[in-house]
Amino acid sequence: MTTITTQTTVGIETFAFKSGQVQVDGIPTPEEPDVPLPAPSKNLTDILDVDKGTPDNHVPRDSRLIRLTGVHPFNVEPPLTTLFKEGFLTPPELFYVRNHGPVPQVRDEDIPNWEISIEGLVEKPVVLPFREVLQKFDQITAPITLVCAGNRRKEQNLVRKSKGFSWGPAGLSTSLFTGPMMADILRSAKPLRRAKYVCMEGADKLPNGYYGTSIKLNWAMDPNRGIMLAHKMNGEDLRPDHGRPLRAVVPGQIGGRSVKWLKRLILTEEPSDNWYHINDNRVLPTMVSPEMSAQDRKWWHDERYAIYDLNVNSAAAYPQHEEELDLATAGPTYTVKGYAYAGGGRRITRVEISLDKGKSWSLADIEYAEDKYRNFEGELFGGRVDMWWREACFCWSFWSLDIHVSDLEKSDAILVRAMDEAMTAQPRDMYWSVLGMMNNPWFRVTITKEGNRLKFEHPSHPAKSGGWMERVKKAGGDLTNGNWGERIEGEAPVEPEPEKEVNMKKEGLSRQIDLQEFKANSSSEKPWFVVNGEVYDGTGFLEGHPGGAISITSSAGLDVSEDFLAIHSETAKAMMPDYHIGTLDQASLEALKNNSTETSDEPRAVFLQSRAWTKMTLIEKKDVSWDTRVFVFQLEHEKQALGLPIGQHLMIKVPDASQKNEAIIRSYTPMSDTSLTGRMELLVKIYFPTGTIPGGKMTMALDQLSLGSQIDCKGPTGRFEYLGNGRVLISGKERQVRSFKMICGGTGITPIFQVLRAVMQDPADPTMCTVLDGNRLEEDILCRAELDAFVAADGRRCTVVHTLTKGSDGWTGRRGRISEELLAEYTPPGDQSMVLLCGPEAMEKSARKILVAKGWAESDLHSF
Ligand code: MTE
Repeated sequence: MTTITTQTTVGIETFAFKSGQVQVDGIPTPEEPDVPLPAPSKNLTDILDVDKGTPDNHVPRDSRLIRLTGVHPFNVEPPLTTLFKEGFLTPPELFYVRNHGPVPQVRDEDIPNWEISIEGLVEKPVVLPFREVLQKFDQITAPITLVCAGNRRKEQNLVRKSKGFSWGPAGLSTSLFTGPMMADILRSAKPLRRAKYVCMEGADKLPNGYYGTSIKLNWAMDPNRGIMLAHKMNGEDLRPDHGRPLRAVVPGQIGGRSVKWLKRLILTEEPSDNWYHINDNRVLPTMVSPEMSAQDRKWWHDERYAIYDLNVNSAAAYPQHEEELDLATAGPTYTVKGYAYAGGGRRITRVEISLDKGKSWSLADIEYAEDKYRNFEGELFGGRVDMWWREACFCWSFWSLDIHVSDLEKSDAILVRAMDEAMTAQPRDMYWSVLGMMNNPWFRVTITKEGNRLKFEHPSHPAKSGGWMERVKKAGGDLTNGNWGERIEGEAPVEPEPEKEVNMKKEGLSRQIDLQEFKANSSSEKPWFVVNGEVYDGTGFLEGHPGGAISITSSAGLDVSEDFLAIHSETAKAMMPDYHIGTLDQASLEALKNNSTETSDEPRAVFLQSRAWTKMTLIEKKDVSWDTRVFVFQLEHEKQALGLPIGQHLMIKVPDASQKNEAIIRSYTPMSDTSLTGRMELLVKIYFPTGTIPGGKMTMALDQLSLGSQIDCKGPTGRFEYLGNGRVLISGKERQVRSFKMICGGTGITPIFQVLRAVMQDPADPTMCTVLDGNRLEEDILCRAELDAFVAADGRRCTVVHTLTKGSDGWTGRRGRISEELLAEYTPPGDQSMVLLCGPEAMEKSARKILVAKGWAESDLHSF
């Protein structure tokens, strides 16, 4: 039997020693067993300057730790490489810290008298002084990895800001913890049969009370779960940041359940009602936005969403973030390595690496250092190592794989995924949730070739900017598209992100404008308008506005703040200083606002108004497929015309349920014939939330409208209009075309369809139309029956080609994207031809590039 112990500063160590033990002061000796033992730790005594002005001015710390929440409270992770290099056991000074508030100050001389109470549903409430916790109970030493539920949260925050701060992938650490089993302590108070939960409370007083949480009593009593109280880590007394003098350690569960500075164990019938138990450590359903979670408390009280067991997770430590590999000096192989862990005592059973986006995988080697302790018989640091019978895995494991450098050179990213013994694998896609916890998608390290070097990038870095996620995001990629932000052709356009504040004012301009001057300049030739109290002159942008001059002239003389801010991009807003001419004085602004709605009782012949919102009523919803609907709206009266020229669009406004007082505005082209009176039909594909994508704001809002609801419409907008017989108006200028090449994807068919139908409905219209329609699956093709009918009716004037990127085996049509080959075949440049485009941005961009290279003039290409 072997015993290893170290000295302690608390002065009561002797209680833990058994007679006849060998004391080695933590320094491995040749006769020691083959188990990982801690390397000598740094005995910190100095208080860092940054901590001196904080309530933690009594806590010595290691300056290498990366602070994630400013100076205080102390929430830190070690640099990933430093942590990994330390190996299986983390030196206490590098162990990650998660403190909700100040560290309780506990003097050495007071520690023997530190008391914990065991109360609540017990036969014999007990108050145990610290010294009895050591003396009266069997002491156990076990290696345990603690992981914060927020580990890897920065990746979630980059997708969408969660309510939590940004952890990198080093929010985990491993220690040999020593202390009694929690079960023994609880047993001393004789739990009553009714008791189902153990609530724990720490000594740290926080704004919402003491930190506390609960676990199930039967877990605490189950020796397989290894739940303990600890007073030592790696053979040393706990350090102040880690709960000195006593903490709970709940292996296999998130760190949040391992209460530090433990003062109370309360047995109850129900889970803890502590504020931190309710409001922290939960994975709410992905569609619950921060606003929804703030508005409805029910989300927080649903115990199903509370996290206990950790989920399976892994990360690569090598290649390191921003590491570079010089191909001239690199060996034939490179060893990729990292860590993996699972929850609930489950073993990591495989770690796989892919270099081709997950098409094929290689199996990495796994080292389970924890298993070494299973053969160990004896004591470590005054605690019995009692692992020979228990098969649970409570620690991280290390994986590695040698990869040919030539294979790395050909790849754009290393993907890592782990699986546990329940066959649960890390998911490819992120499950975003409001607290950003348990983030565990495949870990991805990108590879970029720069000259003769390979540059590697992790998703992010906890403290610095950079990482591939930020890079992809800045380049306009949608991180939730299932392709790590790289655009997939045929992909549905994404709803734009919430916008940042952009300065729209001209620097140094201080001209005051009154209502009289403003109104005098509010004609369609001189369209002045107001946004946020500032006056803009749109004259210089009448030609250039992508929505056509009408978009500006319809705003002339009005305060259009709401609409303008809802529909314009940051880029558009950044252009505004050029058109800024002054500030409307306060009295004039009030007058303008009070005056802005003109009403009349007369029934109007045309529904759409370019300068005012008018309401239409939802009267029917028809399902076209599981995610596509036709919404039928009623206009103000049966004889009313919609007033939408062919090829133009209307704006729709609905309230945004998630943002009080805000509206969502989008442009649509109806499916119904624009000559229809009294009603309008809109074909809409609903972008439902998936595991990682929050869902399309507008389409979800439309889908949730009940029959009888009203929406606001305004219009028309658009630079293009089809007048019939090959006559086209582009920004007010007429031209004649002999053929249209119509290129579209997904719901991009809608404006194209309007023009096509106008041509096909008029047998005398000689215009030839070729439609190239790209989709993913056959069932994604919209208006297919109508398109087929046009071809059947007049195949000479109308050609329709569908191409699918994911066609089933039975699909006999074209496959793949709208490619160069397809464009060369169907859209050769021709005299008096025009290309109409509508679809995902990536599709439009690549088609335009190919067409221009094939000889098309930019002026002959029109994107809706
Ligand atoms: N216990 C108390 N009393 N106060 C706390 O703020 N933080 C919890 C848990 N126990 C906390 C606590 C959280 S969220 C985690 S992840 C772990 O402690 C972190 O333990 P460590 O700081 O020792 O790494």
